Amino acid sequence: MTNYNYKIKNFLEDQIKHINNPIIIEFGVKEGRSTKMFLDLCEKKDGELFSIDVNDYSKLFNSKKWNFIQSRDDNFDYLEKKIPKNFDVIYLDSLHEPNHVEKIFFYYFKKLKINGYFFIDDISWLPYLKNSYRNSFYCEINNKETFNRLLSIFYSNEDNFDIDFNFTSSGICKITKKRDNLNSVKEIKTREFSLKNILKKICAKIKK
Ligand SMILES: C[S@@+](CC[C@H](N)C(=O)[O-])C[C@H]1O[C@@H](n2cnc3c(N)ncnc32)[C@H](O)[C@@H]1O
Repeated sequence: MTNYNYKIKNFLEDQIKHINNPIIIEFGVKEGRSTKMFLDLCEKKDGELFSIDVNDYSKLFNSKKWNFIQSRDDNFDYLEKKIPKNFDVIYLDSLHEPNHVEKIFFYYFKKLKINGYFFIDDISWLPYLKNSYRNSFYCEINNKETFNRLLSIFYSNEDNFDIDFNFTSSGICKITKKRDNLNSVKEIKTREFSLKNILKKICAKIKK
């Protein structure tokens, strides 16, 4: 099993396979790897899948459980008339940029049922570092910024959702909704670059 398949099986499929009649929405279809996994689940558990992509992938699958909508994921007014009011699972795998992820998360969180899951793909920058196997400046920076942004959202929302990160392959974030409330992002001010920490590091070096 590839690391990607391992990630999707363990940190996505296994987390949601208990849900009966799941109503799922995914953003980003492309080759349809996630779409196939969600569709199999919807067929087994009598659910329904809504897949959104800017490109036309409507011919990729033929299932009564599948609704493909060609649109940007942030075309909110257009999508409002075409999708259900609430979801058990939301999966974001479209544009991996922190501002975009934040916009989508804040808009769709209210549509997530309590105890529902919001998955955000591609939060690890490790495969994209300069000497790593996928070497990509764009993905390294965007994924790391997205990870930090999600932490900043969580920082002011600990009572509203749980958050878990997995770093297999390009990583995935799982958010479990606790309450119907979402506070705005709060900057995380760390003491990493404080004089105290610099002195701590110097002392540790001297002691070595
Ligand atoms: C990483 S691929 C999705 C892979 C897919 N989830 C899978 O498992 O095979 C990203 C997809 O998102 C689509 N996309 C990019 N930006 C988008 C946006 N703002 N709204 C909707 N789709 C978008 C692209 O057309 C592309 O098909």
